[in-house]
Amino acid sequence: MPAKWLKDTVFYEIYPQSFRDTNGDGIGDLNGIIEKLDYIRDLGCNALWINPCFDSPFKDAGYDVRDYKKVAPRYGTNSDLYRLFGEAHRRGMRVLLDLVPGHTSEEHAWFKMSGKAEPNEYSNRYIWTNHWWQGCRDMPYIGGECERAATYVLNFFKCQPALNYGFARVEQPWQLPVDHPDCIATREAVKDVMRFWLSHGCDGFRVDMANSLVKYDDEKKSATSAVWRDIRGMLDAEFPDAALVAEWSCPPQALRAGYDMDFCLNNDDTGYYTLMRDYQTGEDNSYFKKDAARRDIRRFLNIYTDWYRDTKDLGYISLLTCNHDTVRPRFSLEPEELKLAYAFLFTMPGVPFLYYGDEIGMRYLQLPTKEGGYFRTGSRTPMQWDSGKNLGFSDGCADSLYLPVDPAADAPTVAAQQGDPASLLETVRALLSLRHKESDLQADADFSPLCADPERPFVYRRGSLLLAVNPAGAPADTGVDVSGREIIFAIGQAQADAGTLVLGAQSFAVVK
Ligand code: NOJ
Repeated sequence: MPAKWLKDTVFYEIYPQSFRDTNGDGIGDLNGIIEKLDYIRDLGCNALWINPCFDSPFKDAGYDVRDYKKVAPRYGTNSDLYRLFGEAHRRGMRVLLDLVPGHTSEEHAWFKMSGKAEPNEYSNRYIWTNHWWQGCRDMPYIGGECERAATYVLNFFKCQPALNYGFARVEQPWQLPVDHPDCIATREAVKDVMRFWLSHGCDGFRVDMANSLVKYDDEKKSATSAVWRDIRGMLDAEFPDAALVAEWSCPPQALRAGYDMDFCLNNDDTGYYTLMRDYQTGEDNSYFKKDAARRDIRRFLNIYTDWYRDTKDLGYISLLTCNHDTVRPRFSLEPEELKLAYAFLFTMPGVPFLYYGDEIGMRYLQLPTKEGGYFRTGSRTPMQWDSGKNLGFSDGCADSLYLPVDPAADAPTVAAQQGDPASLLETVRALLSLRHKESDLQADADFSPLCADPERPFVYRRGSLLLAVNPAGAPADTGVDVSGREIIFAIGQAQADAGTLVLGAQSFAVVK
Protein backbone atom coordinates (compact mmCIF):
# COMPACT_ATOMS: atom_id res chain seq x y z
CA MET A 1 0.00 0.00 0.00
CA PRO A 2 1.31 3.48 -0.80
CA ALA A 3 2.32 5.79 2.04
CA LYS A 4 -0.85 7.35 3.49
CA TRP A 5 0.50 10.89 3.37
CA LEU A 6 0.52 10.76 -0.44
CA LYS A 7 -3.28 10.96 -0.63
CA ASP A 8 -3.24 14.73 -0.63
CA THR A 9 0.27 15.50 -1.79
CA VAL A 10 1.50 17.74 -4.59
CA PHE A 11 5.23 17.69 -5.23
CA TYR A 12 7.49 20.55 -6.23
CA GLU A 13 10.66 19.48 -8.03
CA ILE A 14 13.76 21.55 -7.33
CA TYR A 15 16.90 21.54 -9.43
CA PRO A 16 19.11 22.82 -6.61
CA GLN A 17 21.68 24.47 -8.86
CA SER A 18 19.07 26.93 -10.08
CA PHE A 19 16.56 27.61 -7.34
CA ARG A 20 17.97 30.23 -4.99
CA ASP A 21 21.55 31.22 -4.26
CA THR A 22 22.02 32.68 -0.77
CA ASN A 23 25.82 33.05 -0.67
CA GLY A 24 26.34 34.89 -3.95
CA ASP A 25 28.49 32.24 -5.62
CA GLY A 26 26.12 31.98 -8.57
CA ILE A 27 24.79 28.55 -7.74
CA GLY A 28 21.69 27.61 -5.77
CA ASP A 29 22.05 26.12 -2.31
CA LEU A 30 20.15 24.33 0.44
CA ASN A 31 19.75 27.51 2.46
CA GLY A 32 18.07 28.97 -0.60
CA ILE A 33 15.56 26.13 -0.59
CA ILE A 34 14.90 26.67 3.12
CA GLU A 35 14.37 30.38 2.46
CA LYS A 36 11.68 29.57 -0.11
CA LEU A 37 9.79 26.85 1.76
CA ASP A 38 6.98 29.22 2.71
CA TYR A 39 6.59 30.21 -0.93
CA ILE A 40 6.31 26.57 -1.97
CA ARG A 41 3.87 25.72 0.80
CA ASP A 42 1.71 28.79 0.06
CA LEU A 43 1.61 27.78 -3.57
CA GLY A 44 -0.04 24.54 -2.46
CA CYS A 45 2.86 22.11 -2.83
CA ASN A 46 3.39 20.11 0.34
CA ALA A 47 6.36 17.99 -0.70
CA LEU A 48 9.67 18.41 -2.49
CA TRP A 49 11.75 16.30 -4.81
CA ILE A 50 15.29 17.63 -4.87
CA ASN A 51 17.58 16.50 -7.71
CA PRO A 52 20.86 14.91 -6.55
CA CYS A 53 22.60 17.23 -4.10
CA PHE A 54 25.47 14.89 -3.27
CA ASP A 55 29.20 15.16 -3.77
CA SER A 56 29.88 14.75 -7.48
CA PRO A 57 32.19 15.86 -10.30
CA PHE A 58 28.95 17.06 -11.97
CA LYS A 59 29.49 15.58 -15.38
CA ASP A 60 25.79 14.71 -15.37
CA ALA A 61 24.48 17.47 -13.10
CA GLY A 62 24.96 15.30 -10.00
CA TYR A 63 23.56 12.03 -11.39
CA ASP A 64 27.19 10.94 -11.23
CA VAL A 65 27.47 10.51 -7.47
CA ARG A 66 30.92 10.44 -5.90
CA ASP A 67 29.77 10.11 -2.31
CA TYR A 68 26.18 9.12 -1.56
CA LYS A 69 26.35 10.28 2.03
CA LYS A 70 27.84 13.73 1.59
CA VAL A 71 26.10 16.89 0.45
CA ALA A 72 28.02 18.58 -2.38
CA PRO A 73 29.90 21.51 -0.81
CA ARG A 74 28.52 23.87 -3.45
CA TYR A 75 25.04 23.31 -1.96
CA GLY A 76 26.04 23.37 1.70
CA THR A 77 26.63 20.71 4.30
CA ASN A 78 24.89 17.62 5.61
CA SER A 79 23.75 19.73 8.56
CA ASP A 80 22.05 22.14 6.15
CA LEU A 81 20.18 19.25 4.62
CA TYR A 82 19.11 17.94 8.03
CA ARG A 83 17.91 21.45 8.84
CA LEU A 84 15.98 21.52 5.57
CA PHE A 85 14.21 18.28 6.55
CA GLY A 86 13.30 19.81 9.94
CA GLU A 87 12.09 23.11 8.45
CA ALA A 88 9.99 21.27 5.88
CA HIS A 89 8.43 19.02 8.52
CA ARG A 90 7.66 22.01 10.72
CA ARG A 91 5.54 23.30 7.83
CA GLY A 92 3.84 19.95 7.24
CA MET A 93 5.95 19.29 4.15
CA ARG A 94 7.90 16.20 3.07
CA VAL A 95 11.19 15.85 1.24
CA LEU A 96 12.28 13.22 -1.28
CA LEU A 97 15.94 13.00 -2.21
CA ASP A 98 17.13 11.60 -5.52
CA LEU A 99 18.57 8.11 -5.26
CA VAL A 100 20.82 6.98 -8.10
CA PRO A 101 21.17 3.21 -7.65
CA GLY A 102 22.06 2.17 -11.20
CA HIS A 103 25.50 3.74 -11.41
CA THR A 104 27.98 5.96 -9.63
CA SER A 105 30.53 8.47 -10.80
CA GLU A 106 33.76 6.99 -12.11
CA GLU A 107 35.28 8.95 -9.20
CA HIS A 108 33.38 7.04 -6.52
CA ALA A 109 35.67 5.25 -4.03
CA TRP A 110 33.96 1.92 -4.84
CA PHE A 111 34.85 2.30 -8.48
CA LYS A 112 38.44 3.24 -7.77
CA MET A 113 38.78 0.05 -5.73
CA SER A 114 36.91 -1.98 -8.32
CA GLY A 115 39.35 -0.97 -11.07
CA LYS A 116 42.39 -2.23 -9.19
CA ALA A 117 44.24 -5.23 -10.61
CA GLU A 118 44.36 -6.90 -7.20
CA PRO A 119 40.97 -8.53 -6.35
CA ASN A 120 39.21 -6.88 -3.41
CA GLU A 121 35.81 -6.43 -1.77
CA TYR A 122 34.67 -4.08 -4.57
CA SER A 123 35.90 -6.05 -7.58
CA ASN A 124 32.36 -7.14 -8.46
CA ARG A 125 30.61 -3.95 -7.36
CA TYR A 126 30.56 -2.96 -11.07
CA ILE A 127 30.17 -5.07 -14.20
CA TRP A 128 33.53 -6.02 -15.68
CA THR A 129 34.12 -8.27 -18.64
CA ASN A 130 37.08 -10.65 -18.60
CA HIS A 131 38.69 -9.18 -21.69
CA TRP A 132 40.99 -6.18 -21.73
CA TRP A 133 39.37 -4.47 -24.71
CA GLN A 134 36.18 -6.32 -25.65
CA GLY A 135 32.75 -5.56 -24.24
CA CYS A 136 29.59 -7.56 -24.54
CA ARG A 137 26.51 -7.51 -26.76
CA ASP A 138 25.03 -4.09 -27.11
CA MET A 139 25.96 -2.86 -23.65
CA PRO A 140 28.15 0.24 -23.81
CA TYR A 141 31.54 -0.30 -22.20
CA ILE A 142 34.87 1.39 -21.55
CA GLY A 143 38.39 0.04 -21.50
CA GLY A 144 41.84 1.51 -21.05
CA GLU A 145 41.11 3.52 -17.92
CA CYS A 146 42.06 1.22 -15.05
CA GLU A 147 44.73 -1.20 -13.91
CA ARG A 148 42.36 -4.08 -14.28
CA ALA A 149 42.59 -6.06 -17.54
CA ALA A 150 38.90 -5.83 -18.27
CA THR A 151 36.32 -3.42 -19.63
CA TYR A 152 33.43 -2.10 -17.59
CA VAL A 153 29.80 -1.58 -18.52
CA LEU A 154 28.19 1.86 -18.52
CA ASN A 155 24.68 2.73 -17.42
CA PHE A 156 24.41 6.13 -19.08
CA PHE A 157 27.28 8.55 -19.86
CA LYS A 158 30.93 7.54 -19.99
CA CYS A 159 31.37 8.84 -16.43
CA GLN A 160 28.66 6.49 -15.05
CA PRO A 161 29.78 2.84 -14.64
CA ALA A 162 26.89 0.45 -13.98
CA LEU A 163 26.59 -1.02 -10.52
CA ASN A 164 26.37 -4.79 -10.49
CA TYR A 165 23.03 -6.33 -9.52
CA GLY A 166 23.72 -9.39 -11.64
CA PHE A 167 22.29 -10.79 -14.85
CA ALA A 168 18.88 -12.33 -15.31
CA ARG A 169 20.42 -14.81 -17.76
CA VAL A 170 24.07 -15.67 -17.27
CA GLU A 171 25.85 -16.42 -20.56
CA GLN A 172 29.45 -15.47 -19.88
CA PRO A 173 31.78 -16.44 -17.08
CA TRP A 174 32.09 -12.81 -15.93
CA GLN A 175 28.33 -12.36 -15.59
CA LEU A 176 27.08 -13.00 -12.07
CA PRO A 177 23.62 -14.29 -11.15
CA VAL A 178 21.39 -11.93 -9.16
CA ASP A 179 21.77 -14.02 -6.03
CA HIS A 180 25.57 -13.91 -6.10
CA PRO A 181 26.81 -12.57 -2.73
CA ASP A 182 28.57 -9.66 -4.46
CA CYS A 183 25.36 -8.62 -6.23
CA ILE A 184 23.47 -8.89 -2.96
CA ALA A 185 26.21 -6.70 -1.46
CA THR A 186 25.47 -3.97 -4.04
CA ARG A 187 21.82 -4.04 -3.05
CA GLU A 188 22.72 -3.92 0.63
CA ALA A 189 24.98 -0.93 -0.04
CA VAL A 190 22.02 0.90 -1.58
CA LYS A 191 19.86 0.04 1.44
CA ASP A 192 22.59 1.45 3.62
CA VAL A 193 22.46 4.77 1.73
CA MET A 194 18.67 4.86 2.06
CA ARG A 195 18.82 4.13 5.77
CA PHE A 196 21.38 6.89 6.20
CA TRP A 197 19.18 9.65 4.76
CA LEU A 198 15.89 8.30 6.11
CA SER A 199 17.29 8.16 9.61
CA HIS A 200 18.32 11.80 9.22
CA GLY A 201 14.79 12.83 8.35
CA CYS A 202 14.22 12.48 4.62
CA ASP A 203 10.82 11.07 3.64
CA GLY A 204 11.77 8.90 0.71
CA PHE A 205 13.34 8.96 -2.71
CA ARG A 206 12.79 9.62 -6.35
CA VAL A 207 14.70 6.72 -7.89
CA ASP A 208 16.76 7.35 -10.99
CA MET A 209 16.52 4.75 -13.80
CA ALA A 210 14.80 2.43 -11.34
CA ASN A 211 14.24 -0.21 -14.01
CA SER A 212 17.90 -0.42 -15.01
CA LEU A 213 19.41 -2.57 -12.24
CA VAL A 214 19.57 -6.18 -13.43
CA LYS A 215 21.08 -6.58 -16.88
CA TYR A 216 19.85 -8.70 -19.72
CA ASP A 217 17.54 -10.36 -20.45
CA ASP A 218 15.44 -9.16 -17.59
CA GLU A 219 12.14 -9.92 -19.28
CA LYS A 220 9.35 -7.70 -18.04
CA LYS A 221 11.89 -6.47 -15.50
CA SER A 222 11.06 -9.33 -13.17
CA ALA A 223 14.57 -9.67 -11.69
CA THR A 224 14.90 -5.90 -11.19
CA SER A 225 11.44 -5.91 -9.61
CA ALA A 226 12.52 -8.62 -7.18
CA VAL A 227 15.44 -6.42 -6.07
CA TRP A 228 13.02 -3.58 -5.39
CA ARG A 229 10.58 -5.79 -3.50
CA ASP A 230 13.45 -6.81 -1.26
CA ILE A 231 14.36 -3.15 -0.68
CA ARG A 232 10.70 -2.35 -0.05
CA GLY A 233 10.67 -5.09 2.58
CA MET A 234 13.46 -3.26 4.40
CA LEU A 235 11.51 0.02 4.19
CA ASP A 236 8.29 -1.57 5.42
CA ALA A 237 10.11 -2.98 8.43
CA GLU A 238 12.26 0.03 9.27
CA PHE A 239 10.72 3.14 7.65
CA PRO A 240 7.08 2.30 6.91
CA ASP A 241 6.21 5.92 6.11
CA ALA A 242 8.88 6.30 3.41
CA ALA A 243 7.70 6.89 -0.14
CA LEU A 244 9.36 5.95 -3.42
CA VAL A 245 8.66 7.34 -6.85
CA ALA A 246 10.21 5.54 -9.78
CA GLU A 247 11.71 6.81 -12.96
CA TRP A 248 10.39 3.74 -14.75
CA SER A 249 7.40 4.96 -16.75
CA CYS A 250 5.61 1.66 -16.59
CA PRO A 251 3.40 1.87 -13.49
CA PRO A 252 2.14 -1.73 -13.72
CA GLN A 253 5.73 -2.92 -13.30
CA ALA A 254 6.96 -0.25 -10.90
CA LEU A 255 4.01 -0.41 -8.51
CA ARG A 256 4.14 -4.21 -8.38
CA ALA A 257 7.83 -3.87 -7.56
CA GLY A 258 6.86 -1.99 -4.40
CA TYR A 259 6.90 1.62 -5.56
CA ASP A 260 4.31 4.07 -4.24
CA MET A 261 4.34 6.09 -7.45
CA ASP A 262 5.70 5.97 -10.98
CA PHE A 263 6.06 8.85 -13.41
CA CYS A 264 4.18 8.96 -16.65
CA LEU A 265 7.06 10.00 -18.91
CA ASN A 266 7.23 9.76 -22.64
CA ASN A 267 9.30 6.54 -22.78
CA ASP A 268 7.86 4.20 -25.40
CA ASP A 269 5.72 7.05 -26.65
CA THR A 270 3.10 7.06 -23.92
CA GLY A 271 1.46 10.05 -25.57
CA TYR A 272 2.41 12.24 -22.59
CA TYR A 273 4.29 14.63 -24.88
CA THR A 274 1.20 15.13 -27.02
CA LEU A 275 -0.49 16.85 -24.09
CA MET A 276 1.83 19.79 -23.65
CA ARG A 277 4.90 19.66 -25.90
CA ASP A 278 4.22 17.91 -29.14
CA TYR A 279 7.25 19.55 -30.73
CA GLN A 280 8.94 16.44 -32.04
CA THR A 281 6.61 15.74 -34.93
CA GLY A 282 7.27 18.99 -36.78
CA GLU A 283 3.73 20.28 -36.40
CA ASP A 284 2.89 21.16 -32.81
CA ASN A 285 -0.45 19.60 -31.98
CA SER A 286 -0.14 19.74 -28.21
CA TYR A 287 -3.58 18.97 -26.84
CA PHE A 288 -3.93 22.26 -24.95
CA LYS A 289 -2.76 24.45 -27.82
CA LYS A 290 -5.52 26.77 -28.92
CA ASP A 291 -4.79 26.48 -32.63
CA ALA A 292 -3.65 22.85 -32.80
CA ALA A 293 -4.60 21.53 -36.21
CA ARG A 294 -5.27 18.00 -34.95
CA ARG A 295 -5.68 17.73 -31.22
CA ASP A 296 -6.37 14.32 -29.78
CA ILE A 297 -6.21 13.37 -26.13
CA ARG A 298 -6.87 9.73 -26.92
CA ARG A 299 -3.21 9.01 -27.66
CA PHE A 300 -2.47 9.78 -24.05
CA LEU A 301 -5.66 8.31 -22.60
CA ASN A 302 -5.32 4.94 -24.29
CA ILE A 303 -2.21 4.09 -22.31
CA TYR A 304 -3.07 6.08 -19.22
CA THR A 305 -6.48 4.49 -18.66
CA ASP A 306 -5.04 0.97 -19.08
CA TRP A 307 -2.32 1.74 -16.56
CA TYR A 308 -4.83 3.36 -14.25
CA ARG A 309 -7.21 0.39 -14.27
CA ASP A 310 -4.32 -1.96 -13.66
CA THR A 311 -2.70 -0.03 -10.82
CA LYS A 312 -5.30 2.00 -8.96
CA ASP A 313 -5.32 -0.37 -6.02
CA LEU A 314 -1.53 -0.58 -5.87
CA GLY A 315 -0.30 3.01 -5.91
CA TYR A 316 -0.17 6.13 -8.00
CA ILE A 317 0.68 7.38 -11.46
CA SER A 318 2.45 10.73 -11.29
CA LEU A 319 1.77 13.29 -13.97
CA LEU A 320 4.23 16.14 -14.16
CA THR A 321 4.36 19.58 -15.69
CA CYS A 322 7.95 18.94 -16.75
CA ASN A 323 11.19 17.78 -15.21
CA HIS A 324 14.90 18.54 -15.51
CA ASP A 325 15.09 16.22 -18.57
CA THR A 326 12.15 17.64 -20.44
CA VAL A 327 11.56 20.74 -22.51
CA ARG A 328 9.49 23.17 -20.46
CA PRO A 329 5.81 23.22 -21.43
CA ARG A 330 6.09 26.95 -22.12
CA PHE A 331 8.06 25.93 -25.21
CA SER A 332 4.76 24.89 -26.80
CA LEU A 333 2.11 26.64 -24.77
CA GLU A 334 1.28 30.24 -23.92
CA PRO A 335 0.33 31.07 -20.32
CA GLU A 336 -3.42 30.90 -21.08
CA GLU A 337 -2.92 27.45 -22.57
CA LEU A 338 -0.74 26.40 -19.66
CA LYS A 339 -3.59 27.22 -17.28
CA LEU A 340 -5.71 24.55 -18.96
CA ALA A 341 -2.89 22.04 -19.10
CA TYR A 342 -2.22 22.46 -15.39
CA ALA A 343 -5.95 22.37 -14.59
CA PHE A 344 -6.04 18.95 -16.22
CA LEU A 345 -2.82 17.69 -14.58
CA PHE A 346 -3.76 18.85 -11.09
CA THR A 347 -7.25 17.34 -11.21
CA MET A 348 -6.17 13.90 -12.34
CA PRO A 349 -5.73 10.97 -9.93
CA GLY A 350 -2.37 10.01 -8.48
CA VAL A 351 0.27 12.38 -7.19
CA PRO A 352 1.20 15.34 -9.41
CA PHE A 353 4.62 16.99 -9.71
CA LEU A 354 5.24 20.64 -10.53
CA TYR A 355 8.71 21.56 -11.84
CA TYR A 356 10.10 24.78 -10.35
CA GLY A 357 9.31 27.78 -12.51
CA ASP A 358 6.52 26.13 -14.47
CA GLU A 359 4.07 27.84 -12.12
CA ILE A 360 5.07 31.19 -13.63
CA GLY A 361 5.53 29.87 -17.17
CA MET A 362 9.32 30.05 -17.34
CA ARG A 363 10.61 29.67 -20.86
CA TYR A 364 12.80 26.99 -22.32
CA LEU A 365 16.03 28.76 -23.35
CA GLN A 366 18.34 27.71 -26.19
CA LEU A 367 21.68 27.32 -24.41
CA PRO A 368 24.94 25.46 -24.85
CA THR A 369 25.17 22.29 -22.82
CA LYS A 370 26.09 22.52 -19.14
CA GLU A 371 27.06 19.60 -16.90
CA GLY A 372 25.89 17.00 -19.37
CA GLY A 373 22.57 18.72 -19.87
CA TYR A 374 22.57 18.94 -23.70
CA PHE A 375 19.08 20.00 -24.81
CA ARG A 376 17.94 19.69 -21.18
CA THR A 377 20.07 22.69 -20.18
CA GLY A 378 17.38 25.05 -21.45
CA SER A 379 14.95 23.80 -18.80
CA ARG A 380 17.45 24.21 -15.96
CA THR A 381 17.89 27.98 -15.81
CA PRO A 382 17.65 30.02 -12.58
CA MET A 383 14.27 30.53 -10.95
CA GLN A 384 12.87 33.98 -11.64
CA TRP A 385 11.78 35.55 -8.38
CA ASP A 386 11.56 39.28 -9.05
CA SER A 387 12.80 42.09 -11.26
CA GLY A 388 15.97 42.66 -9.19
CA LYS A 389 19.53 41.58 -9.88
CA ASN A 390 19.64 38.21 -11.67
CA LEU A 391 15.86 38.14 -11.33
CA GLY A 392 16.24 37.55 -7.61
CA PHE A 393 18.10 34.27 -8.01
CA SER A 394 21.53 35.43 -6.81
CA ASP A 395 23.44 38.46 -5.63
CA GLY A 396 26.51 37.21 -7.51
CA CYS A 397 27.71 38.80 -10.72
CA ALA A 398 25.80 37.76 -13.83
CA ASP A 399 28.71 35.95 -15.45
CA SER A 400 29.21 33.76 -12.37
CA LEU A 401 25.71 32.30 -12.58
CA TYR A 402 25.31 28.56 -13.07
CA LEU A 403 23.22 29.38 -16.13
CA PRO A 404 21.99 32.73 -17.41
CA VAL A 405 18.57 33.98 -16.42
CA ASP A 406 15.93 34.57 -19.08
CA PRO A 407 17.11 37.79 -20.82
CA ALA A 408 13.64 38.67 -22.18
CA ALA A 409 12.16 41.99 -21.07
CA ASP A 410 8.97 40.12 -20.21
CA ALA A 411 10.66 37.24 -18.37
CA PRO A 412 7.94 35.98 -16.00
CA THR A 413 8.62 36.39 -12.29
CA VAL A 414 6.92 35.42 -9.07
CA ALA A 415 6.77 39.04 -7.91
CA ALA A 416 5.02 40.23 -11.06
CA GLN A 417 2.33 37.55 -10.84
CA GLN A 418 1.79 37.31 -7.12
CA GLY A 419 -1.61 38.74 -6.16
CA ASP A 420 -2.86 39.01 -9.75
CA PRO A 421 -5.82 36.61 -10.03
CA ALA A 422 -5.43 36.50 -13.82
CA SER A 423 -1.85 35.26 -13.62
CA LEU A 424 -0.64 31.74 -14.18
CA LEU A 425 0.87 31.68 -10.69
CA GLU A 426 -2.41 32.54 -9.00
CA THR A 427 -4.27 30.09 -11.22
CA VAL A 428 -1.92 27.33 -10.06
CA ARG A 429 -2.45 28.39 -6.47
CA ALA A 430 -6.25 28.34 -6.93
CA LEU A 431 -6.14 24.92 -8.58
CA LEU A 432 -4.00 23.41 -5.85
CA SER A 433 -6.14 24.94 -3.16
CA LEU A 434 -9.23 23.40 -4.80
CA ARG A 435 -7.48 20.02 -4.95
CA HIS A 436 -6.66 20.17 -1.25
CA LYS A 437 -10.26 21.13 -0.45
CA GLU A 438 -12.09 18.54 -2.56
CA SER A 439 -11.13 14.98 -1.66
CA ASP A 440 -12.63 13.91 -5.00
CA LEU A 441 -9.77 15.70 -6.73
CA GLN A 442 -7.05 13.99 -4.71
CA ALA A 443 -4.98 10.92 -5.39
CA ASP A 444 -7.50 8.17 -4.67
CA ALA A 445 -10.86 9.31 -6.02
CA ASP A 446 -12.05 7.36 -9.01
CA PHE A 447 -11.38 8.62 -12.53
CA SER A 448 -13.31 7.91 -15.69
CA PRO A 449 -13.17 9.69 -19.03
CA LEU A 450 -16.67 10.51 -20.30
CA CYS A 451 -15.96 12.18 -23.63
CA ALA A 452 -12.63 12.13 -25.45
CA ASP A 453 -13.96 12.93 -28.91
CA PRO A 454 -11.31 15.19 -30.53
CA GLU A 455 -14.03 17.52 -31.81
CA ARG A 456 -15.52 18.10 -28.36
CA PRO A 457 -14.31 19.22 -24.93
CA PHE A 458 -12.69 16.50 -22.89
CA VAL A 459 -15.08 15.54 -20.09
CA TYR A 460 -14.12 13.35 -17.15
CA ARG A 461 -15.37 12.32 -13.78
CA ARG A 462 -13.46 12.36 -10.50
CA GLY A 463 -15.49 10.77 -7.74
CA SER A 464 -18.78 12.70 -7.74
CA LEU A 465 -17.33 15.69 -9.61
CA LEU A 466 -17.62 16.35 -13.33
CA LEU A 467 -14.78 18.15 -15.08
CA ALA A 468 -14.49 19.50 -18.58
CA VAL A 469 -11.80 21.26 -20.55
CA ASN A 470 -12.19 22.99 -23.89
CA PRO A 471 -8.75 23.81 -25.31
CA ALA A 472 -10.17 25.03 -28.63
CA GLY A 473 -10.41 28.67 -29.68
CA ALA A 474 -14.22 28.53 -30.02
CA PRO A 475 -16.97 27.90 -27.45
CA ALA A 476 -18.26 24.34 -27.23
CA ASP A 477 -21.20 22.48 -25.84
CA THR A 478 -20.10 19.53 -23.73
CA GLY A 479 -23.44 17.78 -24.18
CA VAL A 480 -23.30 16.97 -20.48
CA ASP A 481 -26.41 17.50 -18.39
CA VAL A 482 -25.49 19.39 -15.25
CA SER A 483 -28.99 20.25 -14.01
CA GLY A 484 -29.12 20.54 -10.27
CA ARG A 485 -25.34 20.85 -10.05
CA GLU A 486 -23.11 23.80 -9.36
CA ILE A 487 -20.02 25.04 -11.21
CA ILE A 488 -17.55 25.38 -8.34
CA PHE A 489 -14.45 26.39 -10.32
CA ALA A 490 -13.82 27.77 -13.76
CA ILE A 491 -11.04 29.09 -15.94
CA GLY A 492 -12.45 31.18 -18.77
CA GLN A 493 -16.21 30.95 -19.38
CA ALA A 494 -18.39 28.11 -18.17
CA GLN A 495 -22.14 28.08 -17.86
CA ALA A 496 -25.12 25.77 -17.73
CA ASP A 497 -27.22 26.43 -20.82
CA ALA A 498 -30.67 24.80 -20.50
CA GLY A 499 -29.07 22.31 -18.17
CA THR A 500 -26.12 21.56 -20.46
CA LEU A 501 -22.57 22.58 -19.65
CA VAL A 502 -21.21 25.00 -22.25
CA LEU A 503 -17.58 26.09 -22.18
CA GLY A 504 -16.17 29.23 -23.72
CA ALA A 505 -13.00 29.19 -25.84
CA GLN A 506 -10.03 27.86 -23.85
CA SER A 507 -12.01 27.06 -20.73
CA PHE A 508 -12.15 24.61 -17.88
CA ALA A 509 -14.81 23.84 -15.30
CA VAL A 510 -15.38 21.69 -12.25
CA VAL A 511 -19.02 20.85 -11.54
CA LYS A 512 -20.27 19.53 -8.22
C1 NOJ B 1 17.70 10.15 -15.51
C2 NOJ B 1 17.91 11.50 -14.92
O1 NOJ B 1 16.67 12.13 -14.76
C3 NOJ B 1 18.83 12.22 -15.88
O2 NOJ B 1 18.91 13.59 -15.59
C4 NOJ B 1 20.18 11.55 -15.83
O3 NOJ B 1 21.02 12.15 -16.80
C5 NOJ B 1 20.06 10.06 -16.15
N1 NOJ B 1 18.94 9.44 -15.50
C6 NOJ B 1 21.30 9.33 -15.71
O4 NOJ B 1 21.35 9.23 -14.32
